[in-house]
Amino acid sequence: MAAPSPSPSNTETMLQEHRSFPPPPAFAAGAHLSSIEQYEALHARSLEDPDGFWAEVAADLHWFRKWDRVLRWEAPDPVWFGGAKTNLCFNCLDRQVDAGLGDRPAILWEAEAMGPDGAPIVESWSYAGLLEETSRCANALKAMGVKKGDVVTIYMGMVPQLAIAMLACARIGAVHSVIFGGFSAAAIADRVVDGNSRFVITCDGSYRRGRVVPLKATVEEALQREGAGIVTDVLVYRRTRDADAPFTAKADGGRDHDWAELVHQQSDDCPAEEMDAEDPLFILYTSGSTGKPKGILHTTAGYMVWAYLTSRLTFDLAGHGDGPRRAGRAGDDRLPWSPGPVDRQSDAPVDIYWCTADCGWITGHSYIVYGLLPNRVPTLMYEGAPDFPAKDRFWDIVERHRVTKFYTAPTAIRAFMKWGDEHVEKHDLSTLRVLGTVGEPINPEAWMWYREKIGGGTCPIVDTWWQTETGGHMLTPLPGATTAVPGSCGKPMLGVSASVVREDGRPAGVNEGGMLVIDKPWPGMLRGIHGDRQRFVDTYWSAVEGKYCPADGARRDENGNFWIMGRTDDVIVVAGHNLGTMEVESALVAHARVAEAAVVGFPHEVKGNGIAAFVIPHGDVPAPGSDGEAAERDALIAHVGRELGPIARPDQIRFTPALPKTRSGKIMRRLLRSVAAGEEVTSDVSTLEDPAILDKLLGR
Ligand code: WT7
Repeated sequence: MAAPSPSPSNTETMLQEHRSFPPPPAFAAGAHLSSIEQYEALHARSLEDPDGFWAEVAADLHWFRKWDRVLRWEAPDPVWFGGAKTNLCFNCLDRQVDAGLGDRPAILWEAEAMGPDGAPIVESWSYAGLLEETSRCANALKAMGVKKGDVVTIYMGMVPQLAIAMLACARIGAVHSVIFGGFSAAAIADRVVDGNSRFVITCDGSYRRGRVVPLKATVEEALQREGAGIVTDVLVYRRTRDADAPFTAKADGGRDHDWAELVHQQSDDCPAEEMDAEDPLFILYTSGSTGKPKGILHTTAGYMVWAYLTSRLTFDLAGHGDGPRRAGRAGDDRLPWSPGPVDRQSDAPVDIYWCTADCGWITGHSYIVYGLLPNRVPTLMYEGAPDFPAKDRFWDIVERHRVTKFYTAPTAIRAFMKWGDEHVEKHDLSTLRVLGTVGEPINPEAWMWYREKIGGGTCPIVDTWWQTETGGHMLTPLPGATTAVPGSCGKPMLGVSASVVREDGRPAGVNEGGMLVIDKPWPGMLRGIHGDRQRFVDTYWSAVEGKYCPADGARRDENGNFWIMGRTDDVIVVAGHNLGTMEVESALVAHARVAEAAVVGFPHEVKGNGIAAFVIPHGDVPAPGSDGEAAERDALIAHVGRELGPIARPDQIRFTPALPKTRSGKIMRRLLRSVAAGEEVTSDVSTLEDPAILDKLLGR
């Protein structure tokens, strides 16, 4: 892993962002955390007295048995809430039903296609309804032979049954491994084999832009691959009712079970398994820098508490039965965000929350399902694409469902900008209260557009930095308490101690680029890489003794705000100066002609590394080799030089109609590096959203 070289001069060339946005006073007044002083005091307490702090947080949730000890820590192996017994599914569903909230909406689902009458197809699942279907599904899994500790692979579209399948696993102590429904047969086979998973839950197909994605056929193909024949049972939820989807019933010598039959013949009584605090909850595969994907392991109690708390604070959530905010409650000494006993009569407004991610990613695990249901906040799931049937689909959904908290990715925001404001302006978005982003650095231009066009110039924006490995938010603004700065992911979450260090592990100075490290254990931290202890230790725990190293470059400014400079391997050292790819991208996107840009390094004779920029222009791509192209290129190079200093001037600029992105929206920088260096492209392009893009980049 290449750490960004600590060079004080990089601050001179860094994009200087002077705009800052304190919480609107009216918002802060009603928020769980209302001031920077309150945040600082609680943050200090969470680090000085983690046992006391986390015991209080955990008291908001249900435990069959309380812990003996909050934390035992011997790096890199924590035991959180050791001795406790709990169940995450119980905390998502039973608890709400038991409190008399069973009929309230828990999941709102919207199909991609419109109904025959042209109206949207919406399902509202109550806690009681979800509990019933989840219990039946859990009993079906047991009937298939699934036992506590078994790994169940889930490969489905964004339908409520995906959340139900996850919850059913959690209910009986099976370990789910969700695979994004856009992944290939090879990806499924690798994960089935690595997880030694004998059970699969899938759909016949899913919908994307009106077309059927043949999930079951892909599963069949995967199970033909070497080693994947270990799968004995496949549970199929028929979403598309596509006659072409292969299906051979287990009774006929195949592996398949029809959800409509097997699940619906089960009893709806399935008591939640009392899980040990550190029992595995799920594994989720994430790509490493090279080679085999890593099966990131999360366990029960710590992940549950972390997903609950981070959801509540980052989005300032108000759930069913919460009653008035703490400010309105006299004389109790609970933590300010604690909802206290359920108030069924409460007429306080309840959030409608929408995260546009897919449950196949950690964002969907933590911030569609597991963080929202224990907070008793309705969580919206949308099945399809943002531009189907038209480019205003998201805003149509926000308006109709009166969404209050909205969470999406910078890459989506840049696409919306490019599509044009008219799609946004058609809709009333005035219910929105907090906007979130996740997944990559957001350039200040996109941040400002998000604030103005989506947030009406008033909604706080939370730029949340975290990873599959961290389980939940680590660095983020808190909407009622901290001042947001476009492009910065703010300050550490309560319970998180973060710093920036040099390569030798010593602290970096103010604004000095270095490696981001997490100094102390937190409840949602990964517990390992499935089946590969050595890789776990080497990847995360070797750069700096006893500290978690996420492999992101960062700096911390004079106000204590963190700025992510990209993966440490995305930092380009140009003539001894380190530059975050994101900074150059931001500068490019600030130019009126540029819609989106991706920047990579390439070997340069004199400077060590040169900078190559791939640019999607607004409007037409200039003709290759034309005078117009040369003029535009020169203008952009000069522009970046002006914005960031001469060191950041790109050596190459290529105009392109699109960038190579994975289905998860991440730009495939490895591929761009090969193109920029003029090498053969050896990267695996099978996970690209549009594989034909490579030919366009190479001018073929
Ligand atoms: C990597 C983790 C977090 C869930 C989705 C991605 C980058 C994530 C931000 C942000 C700048 C970010 C980091 C991180 N990243 N959020 N707000 N600002 N960079 O999860 O696939 O595990 O990727 O995404 O580089 O290490 P993931």
